[in-house]
Amino acid sequence: MNKLPEGFLWGGATAANQCEGGYLEGNKGLSTVDVIPAGKDRFPVMLGKMNMFECDDEHFYPSHEAIDFYHHYKEDIALFAEMGFKCFRMSLAWARIFPNGDDAEPNEEGLKFYDDVFDECLKYGIEPLVTITHFDVPMNLVKAIGAWRSRKMVDYYERLCEVIFDRYKNKVKYWLTFNEINMLLHLPFIGAGLTFEPGENEEAVKYQAAHHQLVASAKATKIAHAINPDFKIGCMLAAGNTYANTCAPEDVWRSMEKDRENYFFIDVQSRGEYPNYAKKMFERHNISLKMEEGDEEILKNNTVDFISFSYYSSRLTSADPKVSAETEGNVFATLKNPYLKASEWGWQIDPLGLRITMNSIYDRYQKPLFIVENGLGAVDNPDENGYVEDDYRIEYLREHVKAMKAAVNEDGVELMGYTPWGCIDLVSASTGEMKKRYGFIYVDKDNEGNGTLKRSKKKSFNWYKKVIESNGAEL
Ligand code: BG6
Repeated sequence: MNKLPEGFLWGGATAANQCEGGYLEGNKGLSTVDVIPAGKDRFPVMLGKMNMFECDDEHFYPSHEAIDFYHHYKEDIALFAEMGFKCFRMSLAWARIFPNGDDAEPNEEGLKFYDDVFDECLKYGIEPLVTITHFDVPMNLVKAIGAWRSRKMVDYYERLCEVIFDRYKNKVKYWLTFNEINMLLHLPFIGAGLTFEPGENEEAVKYQAAHHQLVASAKATKIAHAINPDFKIGCMLAAGNTYANTCAPEDVWRSMEKDRENYFFIDVQSRGEYPNYAKKMFERHNISLKMEEGDEEILKNNTVDFISFSYYSSRLTSADPKVSAETEGNVFATLKNPYLKASEWGWQIDPLGLRITMNSIYDRYQKPLFIVENGLGAVDNPDENGYVEDDYRIEYLREHVKAMKAAVNEDGVELMGYTPWGCIDLVSASTGEMKKRYGFIYVDKDNEGNGTLKRSKKKSFNWYKKVIESNGAEL
């Protein structure tokens, strides 16, 4: 009871845009994330409110070098292996494979890079878990067709999937179609390469782009199962249940609405059709989705095999406009929950919320779950050898693993694995900082891009090693 099931996939998670660097190396094209600067302009760009389609000299772009996983992957994967990882979640940079998104042929150098990374993982018996797109669209497609606002994206994505599923069919079994697909509603440029014209119905643009991604995800699932019936395809939700601020029924209703905003995507990907509440919401907001013939059938017949999600915190909402003391929380605005402590970035810490979230998702879909992100972004103070005494991180992870075990062993939730976020320090997606660190491995680099890129083990490194060795018994 104290352990997790045999074969449980312990590991860690990263994303190409936050760790690879080498942003134009090996014939890679420019990606959306490469034009998102650090600093005050970051949010307006991620929201699609400020168009920045090229890089300039005034801004600093953290993705360009990131932690240079592109040249350090062997060293990094060796460290993951030393911790005993069974699984490594990473993403592909679309523009490394199709530099312009619409190229006739894929870029062999890009494909080869991922071959090498997968081979390195497999050498140590580490199973790759691959996110096909993690906040990443080739910039050429943004400029040429407005990225996911265009239906053509479905074809380009399909082509990408055909190429990668075929190429890696004997190396990768677990795939996620879109990272945090619901992020499209909150950070549309990062989630879907969207920017907006003044005065347009932004909700309509976002939901149309969402429809394109949902169809693309279902088509990917279809192609994947045809190429290799053993493939397991998952969706990916930025999760965290929304609590009601009081027991006033209005607050409870509001919290249900908030959760539905996020579940909407997974309802389609897992159940195979648009839920009625969404259809009614579209009517109220003058949104009429443009669907092509056959879309409904594609969605219906190609649902995901498992549900993956990120969990950093629960959320809190109120129907009362006067209650407005909002705090940050993984980009989703939320009220401050007086029962919870928060990280240095204001993200509230709620391990029991993970158990609650796991149960809600499992009750709703009855499919295996996979926690593909969880962790604490914190300031680390290394000694002269790069060693960090990160008891705060161990504490956060220990409590979350306990909650996860309770969901599995006491509530019967099916869980495939756990890959904490940023297993090696990397660039923060929301702020572009290096200072907000999640890793078991420290990387010597600061917010301005200075540092030797040297890797060193933190205290949590050995802690997590023991957790994996004991299959979760020793925390
Ligand atoms: C998730 C993303 O939203 O949260 C990751 O999938 C991101 O890309 C992670 O890095 C943590 O957020 P942040 O902003 O602290 O990096």
